[in-house]
Amino acid sequence: MKKLITLFSVCLLLFSCNSQQPKEQSYVIKTPTPERPAGQTDVLELRTDPLPTVRVAFIGLGMRGPGAVNRMTHIPGVEIIALCDVEQKNTEKVNKMLEGRGFPKAQEFYGDTSVWRKVTALPNVDLIYVATDWKSHATIGIQAMKDGKHVAIEVPSAMNMDEIWGLINTSEQTRKHCMQLENCVYDFFELTTLNMTQQGLLGEIVHGEGAYIHGLQPYWDEYWNNWRMDYNEKHRGDLYPTHGLGPVCQAMNIHRGDKLNYLVSVDSKQISSINYLKEKRGQDVTEFRNGEHTSTLISTEKGKSILIEHNVNSPRPYNRMYQLTGTKGFANKYPIEGYALGSEELDPALTKNHENLTAHDFVPEDVRKALMEKYKHPIAKDIEEQAKQVGGHGGMDFIMDYRLIYCLQKGLPLDMDVYDLAEWCCLIPLTAVSLDNNSAPVEIPDFTRGGWNKLQGLKFAQ
Ligand SMILES: NC(=O)c1ccc[n+]([C@@H]2O[C@H](COP(=O)([O-])OP(=O)(O)OC[C@H]3O[C@@H](n4cnc5c(N)ncnc54)[C@H](O)[C@@H]3O)[C@@H](O)[C@H]2O)c1
Repeated sequence: MKKLITLFSVCLLLFSCNSQQPKEQSYVIKTPTPERPAGQTDVLELRTDPLPTVRVAFIGLGMRGPGAVNRMTHIPGVEIIALCDVEQKNTEKVNKMLEGRGFPKAQEFYGDTSVWRKVTALPNVDLIYVATDWKSHATIGIQAMKDGKHVAIEVPSAMNMDEIWGLINTSEQTRKHCMQLENCVYDFFELTTLNMTQQGLLGEIVHGEGAYIHGLQPYWDEYWNNWRMDYNEKHRGDLYPTHGLGPVCQAMNIHRGDKLNYLVSVDSKQISSINYLKEKRGQDVTEFRNGEHTSTLISTEKGKSILIEHNVNSPRPYNRMYQLTGTKGFANKYPIEGYALGSEELDPALTKNHENLTAHDFVPEDVRKALMEKYKHPIAKDIEEQAKQVGGHGGMDFIMDYRLIYCLQKGLPLDMDVYDLAEWCCLIPLTAVSLDNNSAPVEIPDFTRGGWNKLQGLKFAQ
């Protein structure tokens, strides 16, 4: 009997040791990885010629774009060369803002959805900043790099695998930067927590959670040409994964020593947005592809797990979740920012009492504040006050733009490369594959095509 129990325990142990990896690849739906074209190499830690003055052109000036133009006027060494939007009123409005702030007027391009082509071709521009709707992001980004420009593209920068590989291949061929404008990695809590993680305070991170939970009812009618509702209506899957996934991937050093291996997704039926369309627009929609709530689990090569959620339909408080579970500590951003630290910090009187459920509680507010001060990320230290004044989601948008310009001016690798863009956007097509196959596991490619373990740990260039 004793032998039998031992054998059973060994089997259980073997099973649990391997449980992070799929037993056989056949359980996983394969995702093709196109071969890297000959003569092309990766753009890990890409350095480019320093640009003491960065000449910027903006494409897409709806709700999001004008704020970016304004933020750039607060960064020394930036020249705003061109403003482009389908609508003339949008370029005019932003030019008025520029004049009001004492800047020269920028050249305006407007009139149709192809006019941006003249902008990427401008000879006197270094960086194209794209804030159009999702469908035009990758097309503009690819052409911008072919036209010899660095490109920064709003989230999500690519919507399908062809667009993702198109951006990667073009960046590798042209040696131009292609950065996704993922601002949430620069929020103060996320930056501080990243620094804590890198200093080992939370131990090894074994699990991360992120989300985009944002009831978009007040905005649905504001988007140009109804692009956002239209996209949700026609596409299943997590359509906005980058805010949730970005900060977790950074804390887990994805493609800097670990990689995303596969995902599984489950969604709920859609009710709220169908009701919205009926009540607000009198539309009877029978086919709405996007689920009301989509949950995705990801497994990494190093045996870590990630949960990502998407819900833009239900009337819930805004939530990006952002939780990191480490072997020595825990960080949580929503709904309340807090840290819980390992058991060596705990009062033994508390831990011995199993009725006491507060043993692993968050550290008190004064301790949290002190931790946040102590572990403030070096890149935020000098610009935090200015970032809060200039604003953009409380300052994180300014830090993002500031870092982009800083690195371009010095010729340093950008904080986020085209492989980050690929990993964070690939959930859009791959969650749809999982959902359409009864939540089957779907392979996540190694977008670096063999380079995921070359760099050890994420480092922001200084
Ligand atoms: N990072 C963030 O926190 C954040 C916040 C809001 C929006 N966004 C992203 O920013 C992007 C824009 O969102 P928005 O809310 O401003 O949408 P919007 O509909 O208000 O603006 C889009 C603008 O792009 C213009 N446009 C569309 N196609 C064009 C083309 N071919 N050429 C030139 N202009 C074109 C439209 O005229 C419109 O003014 C989206 O990708 C969205 O996901 C990001």
